[in-house]
Amino acid sequence: MNLKNQLCCLLAAVSFPAAIFAQNIAITTDHVALVYQVDTNKQLQQVYLGKKLSSASVYRDVNPGYRNENATLNTAYATGGATYLNEPAIAVQHADGNRSLVLDYISSQTKNIAPDVVQTDIQLKDPAYPFFVTLHYKAFQQEDIIETWTTIWQEEKGAVTLDRYASAFINIAWPQNYLTHFYGEYEKEMEPYQSLLQPGIFSIQSKLGVRTAANYNPSFLLSPASDVSETSGEVLAGTLAYSGNFNIQFENLKLNIDMGNNLKIIPGINAYASAYELRPGEKFETPRFIFTYSNTGRGQVSRNFHHWAIDHGIWNGHQKRLTLLNNWEATYFSFNQDTIAGLFDGAKQLGLDLFLLDDGWFGNKYPRNNSRAGLGDWQANKRKLPGGVGYLVKEATARGLKFGIWIEPEMVNPASELYEKHKDWLMIAPNRPEHLYRTQLVLDLINPKVQDFVFGVIDSLMQQAPGIAYMKWDCNRSMDNAYSPCLGKKQNALYVRYTQAYYKVLGRIRAKYPDLDMMLCASGGGRVEYGAMKYFNEFWPSDNTYPKDRVRLQWTTSYFYPALTMCAHVTAAGRESLKYKMDVAMSGKLGFDIVVKKLTEGELSLARTTVDNYHRLQQVISYGDLYRLISPYATNFASLMYVNGSKTRALVFAYSQETMQQDTWPEWKLQGLDPKKHYRIKEINLLNDTRPQFPESGQVFSGETLMAQGLKWYLKKSETSSVLELEAM
Ligand code: GLA
Repeated sequence: MNLKNQLCCLLAAVSFPAAIFAQNIAITTDHVALVYQVDTNKQLQQVYLGKKLSSASVYRDVNPGYRNENATLNTAYATGGATYLNEPAIAVQHADGNRSLVLDYISSQTKNIAPDVVQTDIQLKDPAYPFFVTLHYKAFQQEDIIETWTTIWQEEKGAVTLDRYASAFINIAWPQNYLTHFYGEYEKEMEPYQSLLQPGIFSIQSKLGVRTAANYNPSFLLSPASDVSETSGEVLAGTLAYSGNFNIQFENLKLNIDMGNNLKIIPGINAYASAYELRPGEKFETPRFIFTYSNTGRGQVSRNFHHWAIDHGIWNGHQKRLTLLNNWEATYFSFNQDTIAGLFDGAKQLGLDLFLLDDGWFGNKYPRNNSRAGLGDWQANKRKLPGGVGYLVKEATARGLKFGIWIEPEMVNPASELYEKHKDWLMIAPNRPEHLYRTQLVLDLINPKVQDFVFGVIDSLMQQAPGIAYMKWDCNRSMDNAYSPCLGKKQNALYVRYTQAYYKVLGRIRAKYPDLDMMLCASGGGRVEYGAMKYFNEFWPSDNTYPKDRVRLQWTTSYFYPALTMCAHVTAAGRESLKYKMDVAMSGKLGFDIVVKKLTEGELSLARTTVDNYHRLQQVISYGDLYRLISPYATNFASLMYVNGSKTRALVFAYSQETMQQDTWPEWKLQGLDPKKHYRIKEINLLNDTRPQFPESGQVFSGETLMAQGLKWYLKKSETSSVLELEAM
């Protein structure tokens, strides 16, 4: 049936015009509002999403796009099988086989759950069945963030099958919709793609089972115009906090003038192979969809996400992150106790907080000397580390360094003792050959014994060596031929149950080890999303450490994730100078993965200066407001800056990527400063005797001048960089 016919059927099926009750349910933050009303058919309708207006009563008369004649098109949570014939938010099969669902409005409550957080719960119920949905909205006032999800339960005579169960159903009434989503592959994560949404369904999704953000990140930016900038234009930005298979659908219904344009955003768990049997009395909670809106461009939505993440979205957001020396790119699998301990002095010389021992330290019968063996056998390899992990922790501690260690506990190599002992713990579909990827298989985390095992990997390391301060939790393959031996013939919700099990284990770890710093890694950025970040302090955005690529990748990652979560290591990758590499890494969370002994005296001294500067200014980078100034996607240059809350200190990063003879220098206006303040600008990350590149280093400028007129670009050569510190006088 074509769209027109579908609409005719739809119109015939509903009684309209459906009068609207005056009562608004307004979910508001300081600057954003999402407003619902209940019609005479008891249907909950979205009537507004955008800039907060002066009072709740005005919403009724605002955006005509939401006031079309057929109000059911703006339903708050579209149900399948009844009269809504497009993509539903929820579709079920009742215990008696009826596949239609109707949800009537029952009640709603709004309460302050924290000084800055208002929660609204809206109860819906099927008039003919004891089937219930609660729509939840947590509105973070200052952050301008709304977190929304649903709880679904039923009291029917048997199990109800949930075929679809989205986290939200958001109606957008813009005349056109430009979507930017982020696609990636190994070493090329978070590449932005902007497109004008055509009629039909566009979807950002994952069926990878684990490491689900390896291609699409579950995040997007949406605007009514293509020329939205960092400082102007409307933007709705959203991200789904979920570590399993996800699907964010954008169904664009291009309607006529009377009906308005209608875009539905339907974020949630991917329905693919995931029908969920909901038992009577069981409550199913969908993942959180987190979104924000700004009418002043993309910069503001990022700052909203960053504030929210630090206060509410990530583990220990206010705890200082540790600078570190990692040995992965420095040694790969070839090391022993002495070579590792020999690197500690380098970490100390650089002034770093921690040493992170990467892959390759475990396995005895099947030593982990390459990626083909040992995964699953989490005992220190006796030849490489005769003193065990404890010895290394002791040696590091003796030098005033903290110690961290790499694990990949959800995985197993066939060449391992674990594989020999526990074939029943492997995820392999019956009658299918083992399909190895990086020579490894996924463990059946749904099995409670595997959960105990995975928890035990972390727990026993912490018991053996209580000084461990940091873990890098990796995940180097996706799930295929997915089958959980533990679920037997009931495989339907396998992907969902795996993710539930992952959170369960992480919850246990966090309950016992709240102070352990954890880095989220999955072949680089394959798990970067807020579902897991609730348990992790930081993440590894990519194995690509080429600094020019990093400038781009960190730029797009920063749309949603704050600098303190974004590990950035200086490595041997790239021909750029050490200074360039450090200036890039310092704009995220600084780390190194180099052989410090190979540095010249000058390089060592510059590195020490940079690390000292990072520590001195870490507060500004970690918690300051980010302003992206010059895009590496639009020019051959890049610049971004952080400004602290009181606008007394700021840091500007500038990079010249690959300049060309004909390049014109970019406009370089600073942002976020106090126009009335005066700032002394000093170029940093230089050796004492080096002449600053910034010709006016040391001079004082007014905030107003810096923002209105800006600075003159001075990095005229390729692969040059500069960091400016601004201090209010
Ligand atoms: C993944 C990670 C790397 C490194 C290796 C170790 O690829 O992304 O940083 O830890 O695994 O095998």
